[in-house]
Amino acid sequence: MQTILGIETSCDETGVAIYRAGKGIIAERVYTQTSHQRYGGVVPELASRDHVRKLAPMIEATLADAGLERVEIDAIAYTAGPGLAGALLVGASVAVALASALDRPAIAVHHMEGHLLSPLLEDPAPEFPFVALLVSGGHSMLVGVEAPGSYELLGETLDDAAGEAFDKTARLLGLGYPGGPEIARLASEGNPGRFDFPRPMLNRPGLDFSFSGLKTHTRQLVARTGPEDHADIAAGFQHAVVDTLIAKCRRALKATRMKRLVIAGGVSANQLLREELARTLPGQVYYPRLSLCTDNGAMIAFAGWFRRAAADRSGRIAVRPRWPLDRLPPMASSETVTG
Ligand code: KG4
Ligand code: ZN
Repeated sequence: MQTILGIETSCDETGVAIYRAGKGIIAERVYTQTSHQRYGGVVPELASRDHVRKLAPMIEATLADAGLERVEIDAIAYTAGPGLAGALLVGASVAVALASALDRPAIAVHHMEGHLLSPLLEDPAPEFPFVALLVSGGHSMLVGVEAPGSYELLGETLDDAAGEAFDKTARLLGLGYPGGPEIARLASEGNPGRFDFPRPMLNRPGLDFSFSGLKTHTRQLVARTGPEDHADIAAGFQHAVVDTLIAKCRRALKATRMKRLVIAGGVSANQLLREELARTLPGQVYYPRLSLCTDNGAMIAFAGWFRRAAADRSGRIAVRPRWPLDRLPPMASSETVTG
């Protein structure tokens, strides 16, 4: 199995990419839906409809970019979960239908495993074992990664995910969706030291996160200040989130005695987080290029290649809107060698 088409539709990005063993990603396209912006969050029904409109033409375009005919694809990997049920079903149905038509197998991929493995597409790739900080719109977790497919959940968010905290705070400040890049932009004009922000989880032991206290604090601050203070609030908020994430990463490295840290998921695109990690953990931090941080088809094609032993010809469409990462079956050892 050499050439894998990857399809991502778990949320509001339609992603299509082709991974070729030994070569890497040879073509990729991502379409970011804009219909959600005025609602301040993703509207599931709109997401599904947009995937329906975009996915099939994007597959054709990506194949054309790679100069490949459909029959040159050996398998089709798709995000089976976690994510929005309707959105997942669009990608899964198209993937399984196309696979059946071409007489090829389909591979159901776990979205967070896609994020987790994406730094391995970079050079230098991190060696195993490592601690992974996965921070996206729906998840915040620390994972001990012994090898591909061997994941131990070390800690996770007790309430909002890190990306969700950015999105909700952006809404409080009257900014658009997704909130992370908007907050980062506004924060660059602000003074992070002007207002005090709580870092409640730092005083408590353990590796879990919580962002609800920070959110409440920010809401109260916004209520008693004016628009001229928003840049300072954004800067203070961003610093508090970054500090909390970094402190938990350091704790996780210490607890596991691992030396390498991998960060992935949408929030790993945050520049302050990258700068502070590079400063506090020099030489130990790995992350994917910016285009692979937010949702994309490349990470799904790549994870599909790792999971190729699970390729399925039954025509069954498997979506799992809730799917714990640490319940994934182990990988066959032959699969863990990238090629
Ligand atoms: O991984 P992702 O694209 O989708 C999910 O799987 O959820 O992550 C999206 C999340 C959003 O909450 C968005 O606000 C956040 O990632 N994000 C950022 C940045 N870019 C995206 N958060 C902070 N700083 C950024 N530069
Ligand atoms: Zn994601």
